Amino acid sequence: MPLVPAVRLLEHAQKNSYAVPGFNFHNMVDFQAIIAAAEAEAAPVMLMATEDTINFVGFDYIQGLAAAAAKTAGIHFALHLDHGRNLDSIVKGIRYGFTSVMFDGSRLPFEENIRLTSWVADVAHKAGVSVEAELGQIPGHEDNVSVSEQEAGMTDPNLVPEFVERTGVDSLAVAIGTAHGLYKAEPRLDFARLDAIRRKTSVPLVMHGGTGVPDDAVKKAISLGICKMNVGTDLRLAFMGCIRKTLEDQEIKDPRVLLKLAREAVVEVVRGKIRLCGANQRAGMI
Ligand code: 13P
Repeated sequence: MPLVPAVRLLEHAQKNSYAVPGFNFHNMVDFQAIIAAAEAEAAPVMLMATEDTINFVGFDYIQGLAAAAAKTAGIHFALHLDHGRNLDSIVKGIRYGFTSVMFDGSRLPFEENIRLTSWVADVAHKAGVSVEAELGQIPGHEDNVSVSEQEAGMTDPNLVPEFVERTGVDSLAVAIGTAHGLYKAEPRLDFARLDAIRRKTSVPLVMHGGTGVPDDAVKKAISLGICKMNVGTDLRLAFMGCIRKTLEDQEIKDPRVLLKLAREAVVEVVRGKIRLCGANQRAGMI
């Protein structure tokens, strides 16, 4: 089934009140696990690579993985460049067949964020590629993106209409109390802010930092307009936890045995998040 622009998935999710899960992959094993889980749940998914993952795996191999999935998988998926801060890597991603790119100008002054995001949107849209942007700053650590609590700032609902209109983005990541990485205490989401943002724009909204957000909070956020939820850390934890445990068994000498078990552990986590987003059994309808 085809590799599609993210808007196609997000519009369906928005109309049908669920969220498309976006999963960060870090290697081929993760990539295969996400596709296998999406097939098992008949769910649309977004496979997301940060610039660190692109540096590690390489554009050519990522393109190959996406081509293999498009040939073999029975679900629609988008290939997304997550938290792009470098315009060169975004342009390269578009050339290499990414169907969605995020320009993260959240640390920039408002006007500069608008200027660069709209430049990215122009280039991407000419190639039929969807664009996500960020307004406000989500705290925490995700590969090359690190935002301290002091730097972080929630999205101002009053700035949203102007930002969306002047940039032409297809979706917007909002800072509403979630954070990248592990939470020190249970996150408290600012639902009133999310509701206010939703009332100001019809563009699909994206929640970052999906790891560790309690299930009922995720469901409430989706009911208030979140159309995509990003999850990364949970996949790393499942992968690494399995590797650590399996390595204790001195009998295992074949790395493929180890990686197959790690892949199965990631599949389980991904399946759970797909169901939490309500994206299961949606693939046939897109
Ligand atoms: P977590 O790693 O906290 O799940 O966040 C992922 C994310 O938001 C990627 O953009």
